[in-house]
Amino acid sequence: MTQSRPLTVSAAQTGLKGQVTVPGDKSISHRALMLAALAQGTTKIYGLLEGEDVICTSKAVEALGAKLQRNKDFWLVEGCGVGHLKEPGDVLNMGNSGTAARLLAGVLATHPIVSMMTGDGSLRTRPMGRVSDPLSETGAKFVTRDGKRLPMTIIGTGDGKPLHYKLPVASAQVKSAIMLAGLNCTGQTCVEEPVATRDHTENMLRHFGLDVSVTESDNGGRFIRFEGPASLKARDIIVPGDPSSAAFPVVAALLIPNSEVVIENIGLNLLRTGIFTTLLEMGASIEIKNERIEGGEKVGDLHVKASTLHGVTVPAERAPSMIDEYPILSVACALAQGTSRLQGLAELRVKESDRLASTVALLESNGATVSVENDDIIIQGQTHLAGGGLVKTHMDHRLAMSGIILGLVAQKAVKIDDTAFIETSFPGFVTLMNNLGAGIKA
Ligand code: S3P
Repeated sequence: MTQSRPLTVSAAQTGLKGQVTVPGDKSISHRALMLAALAQGTTKIYGLLEGEDVICTSKAVEALGAKLQRNKDFWLVEGCGVGHLKEPGDVLNMGNSGTAARLLAGVLATHPIVSMMTGDGSLRTRPMGRVSDPLSETGAKFVTRDGKRLPMTIIGTGDGKPLHYKLPVASAQVKSAIMLAGLNCTGQTCVEEPVATRDHTENMLRHFGLDVSVTESDNGGRFIRFEGPASLKARDIIVPGDPSSAAFPVVAALLIPNSEVVIENIGLNLLRTGIFTTLLEMGASIEIKNERIEGGEKVGDLHVKASTLHGVTVPAERAPSMIDEYPILSVACALAQGTSRLQGLAELRVKESDRLASTVALLESNGATVSVENDDIIIQGQTHLAGGGLVKTHMDHRLAMSGIILGLVAQKAVKIDDTAFIETSFPGFVTLMNNLGAGIKA
C-alpha cells in the first residue's frame, strides 16, 4: 500500500440515481486464481476483481509456477496441476488479505516445497494459528512469529495426511484451507462446520470436476467430504459482482432521500446475502430482478429505493452470511427508528481491524448512541446523525467505505483518516458513488 489518502465527505445534496455494476466478488476471485493454478489446462476467468488483495494472490500463484495473462475481458491461467506447484523464489506477500494468506497456506501445506509468507501491517497482526494448527496435522511444518502470526515459513509435505477436522469457529477461510490441503492428500478429507459458511470453494471444486459431498449435520451444520488426490480440469469461470461491495451503495441509496438505483449482476449465493435479508427486515425497498445462475452461482440485479428503516435484531446464526457487512449495517441502524441489536460478533475482532471496536468508534465519533454487551453491538437509532467526527480506519477498507457512506448521510462533514485501503476490494468506489450523484470531492 502506498501513501495514506485522507478524505472529507459532506452530506449528499440530491438522491442517488442510476444503474451501476460493482467489481467482481473477492472470495470467488481468490479461489478462481488458486484453483486455476492447481488445475490441468488453461482457465479463462471473466470478471476477476482487480483489487490489491486479489492481485497479491495472482502474483503468488505466478511465483508458484502458474502462467497468467491479463486480457481485456478475462484473465488466462495455465495451471500446474495438483502436487506440481514449484518453490517460490522469494517471500510471498499477501498484502492486506487474510483470505489469500489462509487459503494459500492450505495449498502450500501439502506441496513438497518450502515457502515464506508475509503481509502488510494489518495482516501481520491477524491470527494464523487457526490454519497452521490443523494444517500441521497433515505433516506440514509451520514456523510463525509469536502469537502464530505472519511472517511464517511453511515446509510442505508431498505425502500429506488428509484431515478430518471440526471447525472450532464458523470460518470459510479455515474450511477452505483444510479442503485445499486435502486436494494433494491420498484418502478422504472431511470438514465439519458448526454453521454453514460461504461455499464458493465447494462450488468451484465441483465446477473443476471434483466429487464433493455436502451433508447436513444434526445440529444445523455441515459435513464436507471428498477423496484425494484430486485431479482438477480447467474450466471457464464467470465472477459475479461482490454482494459485500454492493452493500455500500445499497445502504447509501436506502438512507439518502429520493434515491433510486439499480446495481446489476450481484452474486446472490444464499450464504452471502444475510445483509439483504436484514435490510428487508428493516423495511428496505430492495427488489431482486433478473435472477439467474451464472458460473454455478445465483446472480441478480438489485433495485433499491430510499426507505424509512426500523431497528432490527440480527441473530448470531446469521453472522457467517454477512460477516463483512456489520460496519455498513451499523450505519443503517444508526439512522433507523428504534433499537438494533447485532448479536454474536466475536469474529469481528480478528478482521482487517478489530471491527467490533472500530465499528463502535465509527458511530460514536459521529454522534450515534451505541454500546457493546459481550459480543453484541446495540445501536439506538435516531432521525439525524450529527457527523463531524474523524473515522479511524486502521488499514480496513470496509471501515473506510462505511465512513464515506456515513459522511453522505450526516449533518456535519465526516473525515476519514485513510481511504487508500479501499483499493484492496473496491477499486473505483468513490467514482462509482459519484456516478450515482454522491458529490464526493476527492
Ligand atoms: C472469506 C471469509 C470470511 C470473510 C472474508 C472472506 C472467504 O472470513 O470475512 O472477507 O473468502 O472465505 P472468515 O472465514 O475468517 O470468517
